Amino acid sequence: MRKVEIHPEAVERVKKYTISDSVLGFGKYVAPIMIEAIYDNGQWQRFDLLPYGPIQLDPCTKVLHYGQEIFEGMKAFRQPNDEIKLFRPEMNARRFNQSARRMSMPEVPEELFLNACEVICAYCKNLVPKRLGESLYLRPFMIATEVGLGIKPSKQFLFVIVASPSGAYFSGDSVKVFIERDDIRAAQGGIGFAKTGGNYAASLQSYTKTIQAGCDQTMWLDSSHQYIEEMSGMNFMCIIDGELHTPALTDTILDGITRKSVLELARHEKIKVVEGKIAIDSLLQLIEEGRCTEAFVCGTASVICPISSFLDKDGRTHYMKYGEGKMSMYLREKLISIQGGREQGPEGWLYPVKDIHF
Ligand SMILES: Cc1ncc(COP(=O)(O)O)c(C=O)c1O
Repeated sequence: MRKVEIHPEAVERVKKYTISDSVLGFGKYVAPIMIEAIYDNGQWQRFDLLPYGPIQLDPCTKVLHYGQEIFEGMKAFRQPNDEIKLFRPEMNARRFNQSARRMSMPEVPEELFLNACEVICAYCKNLVPKRLGESLYLRPFMIATEVGLGIKPSKQFLFVIVASPSGAYFSGDSVKVFIERDDIRAAQGGIGFAKTGGNYAASLQSYTKTIQAGCDQTMWLDSSHQYIEEMSGMNFMCIIDGELHTPALTDTILDGITRKSVLELARHEKIKVVEGKIAIDSLLQLIEEGRCTEAFVCGTASVICPISSFLDKDGRTHYMKYGEGKMSMYLREKLISIQGGREQGPEGWLYPVKDIHF
């Protein structure tokens, strides 16, 4: 296994750092250390644990112009015995490399990716929050660093991991959804399934509309403007006639690890799972008829969060009786207690971080 070079200044910095006792929120605090690795001459050269700091780039660096960039989002949880465990990091490693292939970027071998995640977690062990549901959020990312304005794949890349002690993504206990009827997020053959910055940049115009309309999350439909795909940073699920429904994966939807985990938990609990097409107009009808009793978003950052209402383009708001969201809250509690080590989850979901004395 390739070793990560540990820089003494990084260790000194992290030793002095303490996390706030107050509400952490999401992505507001950042650990004072980071992993950096350089790709050049067709291979990963070295991995370093460095003090957190700015990345200097030439103004003609390719990522700044053509968006050759990918990222991941994953969490490490403190267990009751103070051990630190990552939640299904192999899935993030695989998805990172899937994104890398689509964006003409080099893969980070799974073993190197996991080792780098483990090292930053081990040095951040005192920064992993203690409260159930809180975590150390890791953000691995890769950018194209070759200099030159020609539109072609870069030959040089930088891989970085930063870490953020985090709590709840949403401040409330439910979300209001804005149905985006005009713009689309992804089209067949495009990059919707890849975790690359462009998908998020393209969602920001609708984010502004969403917030101005008093909502929290944008719901994206497919390119026919009929079928639900996902939200800007999470997947969508709902309960119809007591069954758990979610859009089937296509190349326009991000294959969420929380989505996969929730479906596995539901199947284990003998809840019927349906992965298929969900037309937005049928969903709204089913809500009015009382057959769709719950709807929720799910993702690493948001875990599971019930949807309280859907705002449509015609100005109508369709309210969920989410207070009765028994199934979503049951799945949420289950997932959180598995991640926090309060309950035994399926084999292999928690990846232990080896303790390092420093
Ligand atoms: C567009 C999008 N969909 C879904 C998800 C949920 O994926 P995961 O559960 O792996 O975090 C995310 C977050 O990563 C996302 O950005």
